[in-house]
Amino acid sequence: MCGIVGYIGDKKATPILINGLSCLEYRGYDSAGIAVIENNEICVMKDKGRVANLKSLSGIDELTSTIGIAHTRWATHGKPSQENSHPHMDNSNQFAVVHNGIIENYNELRNFLTQKGYFFLSQTDTEVIPNLIHYYYTNGVPTIEDRFLWAVKTAVDDLRGSYAIEVVCKLYPDKLIVVRKDSPLVIGKGSYENFVASDIPAILPYTKNFYLLDDCEYAVISNDSIQFYDSSLTTHDKPIKNIKWDANATEKNGFEDYMLKEIYEQPNSIRETVGTRLKLDEKCSFDELSFTKEYLSNINKIYIVACGTAMHAGLVGKNALESLCRIPTEVDIASEFRYRNPIIDEKTLCIYISQSGETADTIAALKLSKKKGAKTLAISNVLGSSITREADYTIYTHAGPEIAVASTKAYTSQVVLLVMIAMYFAEVLESSSKDTINKLKTSILELPSKIETVLKENDKIKELAKKIYKEHDIYFLGRGTDYPVAMEGSLKLKEISYIHSEAYAAGELKHGPIALIENNITVIGILTDPNLMEKSISNLQEVVARGAKTFVITNQKITDSNFDCMINIPTIDSLISPILSIIPLQLLAYYISKNKGLDVDKPRNLAKSVTVE
Ligand code: F6R
Repeated sequence: MCGIVGYIGDKKATPILINGLSCLEYRGYDSAGIAVIENNEICVMKDKGRVANLKSLSGIDELTSTIGIAHTRWATHGKPSQENSHPHMDNSNQFAVVHNGIIENYNELRNFLTQKGYFFLSQTDTEVIPNLIHYYYTNGVPTIEDRFLWAVKTAVDDLRGSYAIEVVCKLYPDKLIVVRKDSPLVIGKGSYENFVASDIPAILPYTKNFYLLDDCEYAVISNDSIQFYDSSLTTHDKPIKNIKWDANATEKNGFEDYMLKEIYEQPNSIRETVGTRLKLDEKCSFDELSFTKEYLSNINKIYIVACGTAMHAGLVGKNALESLCRIPTEVDIASEFRYRNPIIDEKTLCIYISQSGETADTIAALKLSKKKGAKTLAISNVLGSSITREADYTIYTHAGPEIAVASTKAYTSQVVLLVMIAMYFAEVLESSSKDTINKLKTSILELPSKIETVLKENDKIKELAKKIYKEHDIYFLGRGTDYPVAMEGSLKLKEISYIHSEAYAAGELKHGPIALIENNITVIGILTDPNLMEKSISNLQEVVARGAKTFVITNQKITDSNFDCMINIPTIDSLISPILSIIPLQLLAYYISKNKGLDVDKPRNLAKSVTVE
């Protein structure tokens, strides 16, 4: 929920730390800070507000240190303020710490330290960490030569909760120590310099060689070495991973905002997701999976579990799995699923979708289903993320880094991947005709060019946004595969434009929601399923009759309508039409937010990965 960066090398640390933080602002942006070791003292500069504010603090440009740690915060304990910003130091100003995660027993530790004479300057859970390290450093009897590492490890042993922690000590200006548990942390290896970050994009401009730190693993990092330790401080080697991402992947490349760039990247991200997994006249291939016909035919139920946008992708995937494989499939919100004692056994397959791979509820739900004996399959966009380490199987979406808080390209990649998984299952099970599967394959291969066609509607959508951006309520209606699109369109709108919005299954309208329809209210209809077209049009006519302004996304020729505006998209197999129909709604949310002068990429109160319940 927060972003952390670290640097040790032969260059000035501050610009590298600040650039890294700017890339991680999607993880939290209510305060930011750095700590460097300058003339044998720790110098902390921090404040509430964004990284741009940190960058403008007086004196920050004069720092010459070549070692430092940095943090951008999404507040959990204590409001955004200078005191609550990270880094935090111990009372003697010897140790500085940045932390992403939550220390659940911080009250207990705070009481312990208070009794020992320590005092606290912030309301954060984090501030106990540097003081605990100091306590052990000065009072403990180390069992290894490296007293600094021993003190960090002994303090960390006392912590309950989740953490990715970086520590520097003014007595050791040539090393920084990191450790993680249930919060992400990667280490980038350079030449006579090394980097640390919560997520790869923050340090991608400097290196493509990374180590993914495991849970409860420590690293002691200097200019020219990275030494790994397990939780009992035994050293070990670790394989390095080379990332193929282009450093430009994290730039805006001429787009005003990351969200717009990511919307426009969708033809390519879909190509990457499809990759070599799907070829005409060949069976779908998923090297990651080894499911036999016997195993698949014994599955009693598939659960798709996720949060937010990823859950909406799951709803589209459900349609594909049920229609192609005839396996009962339920979609659940992770935070509900984990607490409702779901019926799961070894014949259940649980699919977990998470762009970040770090969503706390999704990970907890996965752990629960594993305990109950189900097979677990993770779909994630982030290499080595927590969810991929927990699941029996992982399939990556390969959508490239998604920086904007509102998910766009990750969603469409999740959808296409789920549909391809359904096709793969159907081929193993022989549950759908070759003709059906081949038509769907053709449609999937046509997706990138059809997305490009939809993107050409940009100007029309921009105009529509101008007309409706001042609305207070906007409703979305859809049936069948259009219903999850209505839900996703509504979520996109509310999260970046702050306009109240609801999505309804069009057939549900008469069961209550139609009472909300009054003169001039805006209703957006998604009409792409030819089999449900007449019924959906009737539902929209009912709102027109009650004075609503109606805007329609459709791939059908609708004549004689009295809708206010129609956005036409290409026809495609209805199992994947949600990939095309969501794009005008992503653009609409984007332009409405721009018209309102809001920060599209960093909407209020939201962070990209939700690592707390
Ligand atoms: C909305 C959005 C969120 C995420 C949700 C799950 O645009 O991005 O609703 O989809 O927080 O996040 P992941 O996929 O990282 O588990």
